[in-house]
Amino acid sequence: MRVGFYQFRPLFGRIERNVRQVVNALRQVDADLVVLPELAFTGYYFSSREELQKLAEDPDKSMTVDALSALCRERGFHIVTGFAEKRLDKCFNSAILIGPDGIEHIYRKLHLFNEEKRYFDEGDIPLQVNTVREVRIGMMVCFDWAFPEVARALALQGAEIICHPSNLVLSWCQQTMQSRCLENRVFAITTNRFGADRRPQGMLKFTGKSQIVAPGGKLIHRAASQRESLFITGIDPAAAHDKHITSLNDLFSDRRPEFYGTLIK
Ligand code: ACM
Repeated sequence: MRVGFYQFRPLFGRIERNVRQVVNALRQVDADLVVLPELAFTGYYFSSREELQKLAEDPDKSMTVDALSALCRERGFHIVTGFAEKRLDKCFNSAILIGPDGIEHIYRKLHLFNEEKRYFDEGDIPLQVNTVREVRIGMMVCFDWAFPEVARALALQGAEIICHPSNLVLSWCQQTMQSRCLENRVFAITTNRFGADRRPQGMLKFTGKSQIVAPGGKLIHRAASQRESLFITGIDPAAAHDKHITSLNDLFSDRRPEFYGTLIK
């Protein structure tokens, strides 16, 4: 399976321009699955809920989703992208799985980061695994990295690849995702953006370093911090089937949930 990421610098509020940049960058790409950053088309640092409501799109009536679906049809691949999702009076920080026939699944970020709590609604859909070319993929968004339950829940549902659109501002995620892949024996594609959102309320700088990690926690590739980067590579998703960490330790069947108490309540 050919998988990868496109790390770029979305410009705040310039949805059409950002869509054009992604479509142009991916037009020649030979891949099965490409992961884009969190909030890849609106930008990240909203100054108010009203501003978010103006920029967020209903995926069922979205020029952005239409353009990405057309791209998937043209190239025969799937995309996982971050997306500001509007549904009636609610706005979610979502990841959308799009294929040649359009939207296949939407994940709404469960763990909102810092000021996101002021303008986004909390995710309200249980974690789910979807199939792309017979490979099971799960989605999580950025700060979900700090909640090991998310990657574990997806892995227990059979995810072989975790797609992880991100807009990272802290420095710990990339290393932590290597642990998530080690303890769950899955692949993870973390796609971050670079550059900054300079807004009236302040400035946020994003850290780049998008990466693909293999089931043993081994880093397959990490991009530079402040540079555009399109990276595609071949992986064997079946490598995620073996949950052994030693010959006598299977990380899934060795679990003792009956002793985990509050964790599973
Ligand atoms: C983040 O969740 N965007 C840090």
